[in-house]
Order: sequence, then C-alpha cells, then structure tokens
Amino acid sequence: MRTEGDTWDIVSSVGMTALFVAAIRAVESKQPDALVHDEFAALFVAASGDPTTNQLIDNPQLWADSPLGTEFMGLRSKFFDNLFLAAAEAGVRQAVIVAAGLDARAYRLDWPQGMVVYEIDQPKVLEFKRQVLADAGAAPKADRREVAVDLRENWPAALIEEGFDPAVPTVWSAEGLLGYLPGAAQDALFARIDQLSAPGSSLACDVFDTDLDYQQIADFQAEQLRDLPFGKIDFVDLVYTDDRSDPAEWLTNQGWTTTSARPEELAERYDRPLTAALQPMAQMFNNMRYLSAAKPA
Ligand SMILES: C[S@@+](CC[C@H](N)C(=O)[O-])C[C@H]1O[C@@H](n2cnc3c(N)ncnc32)[C@H](O)[C@@H]1O
Repeated sequence: MRTEGDTWDIVSSVGMTALFVAAIRAVESKQPDALVHDEFAALFVAASGDPTTNQLIDNPQLWADSPLGTEFMGLRSKFFDNLFLAAAEAGVRQAVIVAAGLDARAYRLDWPQGMVVYEIDQPKVLEFKRQVLADAGAAPKADRREVAVDLRENWPAALIEEGFDPAVPTVWSAEGLLGYLPGAAQDALFARIDQLSAPGSSLACDVFDTDLDYQQIADFQAEQLRDLPFGKIDFVDLVYTDDRSDPAEWLTNQGWTTTSARPEELAERYDRPLTAALQPMAQMFNNMRYLSAAKPA
C-alpha cells in the first residue's frame, strides 16, 4: 500500500519496479532480435541480491517464453532511446530522465559533446545505482548529474540546484512512471515540465489508460503468469488510480504538438512483431500509448 511521502530502496515498494524492469531489459538484451543492448541491467540485478529478479536473469527463457514476452520492453527502450538520439541530433544538449531508476542511458547512448543528463529519482535508488556503476568501473558518456528528490515534492528547485538551465531546450523522458504518482503529482509534473521547457524542448512518456481494470490485471497475473517470479511486486498495490488529466490533451492545450503510438505501431515501426500470446494482456498493453510531445521552437 502506498502512503504520502513513502520512500523505498531498490528492493522495496516502487524501487523494486525499477529492478524488475532492469531484469526484463537484461533478458531482452539477450534475445536474438533485441531492440536494446543494456549491459548494465544484469549488473544491477546481480548486485541487488534480490532472488526474484536474479531468477529471471538465470532463466531468461522463463520470461521470454511467457505470455508477456520481452518485446514490450524492447519497443519501449527503443522508443525512448530514439527520443534522446533525435533531440541530440537536433542540437539539444540538456536531458532530464525523470524517475530514472536503473536507466543506464547516460552510460549506454552515444551522446554528443557537451551533453548534460540529469537523472531524477529517490535518494536510495540513485545511491544504489551509483555504487554498482562505480564498482563496475563504468564511466558515463555524458555529464551525468543526480537529482535525488521525490517527484511529489518541489523537484524543479532540486533540478535547478544541480545546474539545470530552463532557458535552453530540454529533452525529457518519463518512462514507466505515471501510474506510481498520485493524480495531483502527475498533473503537477507536466505543469512543471512545461514551465521548465524552453521552445524547442521535447518530451516522451508512456501512458496507461486511466480506466484500466487493475483487478482484472491482478487476476491475470495470478492465473496465467503464475510460473513467472514476481516476488514481492504487486503492481495493483503500488499504483494510484485517482483522476488525472490526460497528458496528451493537457500538453496540446499548452501549445505542444503531440503524437501517440500504440504498441502495435511501435512493433511495426521497429519490425519486432508482438507475440500473439500478448493478447490476454491486451487491456493493459494494447491500451497503452507512447506519447511524444514537442514545444515549438
Ligand atoms: C518502473 S520504474 C522505471 C524506471 C526507469 N524509468 C526505467 O524505465 O527503467 C519506476 C521508477 O519511478 C521512480 N519513482 C516513482 N515514484 C517516484 C517519486 N514519487 N519520486 C521519485 N521517483 C519515483 C521509482 O523510484 C522507480 O525508479
């Protein structure tokens, strides 16, 4: 159950979801047609000592052959990778990875000279990440700056304190985040991003439909995914389902241009078919939208 101001580390509550998606990224990285190659994902899982996610790494086919497959993580990773690469190509030199978790893009992508990448997440999550990467001797390929703050608090102040410049265009990602925020915090997130975004900024996020039947998803998890190790993760207990604005609509009203893609559109775009077995999760995955938005220069 979530509470106001709750905190976590990498093996508890919402922190565990970051470890979990890192494990799936590690599994996807091993697929023959992988859409992401994240060499750091498995390191995080190993360092966490968490038995559930390590079980996934040790038996990658367990997840790859499951009704979920790993392509959703491949599609999602590539979608956000492309956002950053396109912005960098267009000359943007400031990136903010909101709710960075174990996202290793600062180490993984070929950033241009002068790129500054801010990573926002809770302190213990960033601390774990920093330690693992330092132990591995990994060096970021950009000027990486940690912003250890809760997104329900005044995160813009913390971001600016680390050197963020609202006067230059920024590329923002909020990947795998929105459901974990209360409605008011999600609405505030977009309002603040809008305020901090100079013309020429861009943004991407993944958005689940607000009328998702989480009980149905929990039942599906219990019935059809019972062979998959989910460990202590109960997504239904971690997400907020209260009212919130539709991000695409809200951003459009603020003058951003927006486009949304369904997973099947990304599958076609990146030539990685969705497995037929994904269908039972249609309500959750097919109703999801990958939103891209740009603030006209
Ligand atoms: C599912 S993970 C996604 C991590 C990363 N974006 C990725 O896709 O690999 C969700 C992340 O959101 C972060 N998060 C959720 N609510 C937050 C909050 N209120 N403040 C800071 N971080 C938060 C968690 O700590 C976690 O790292």
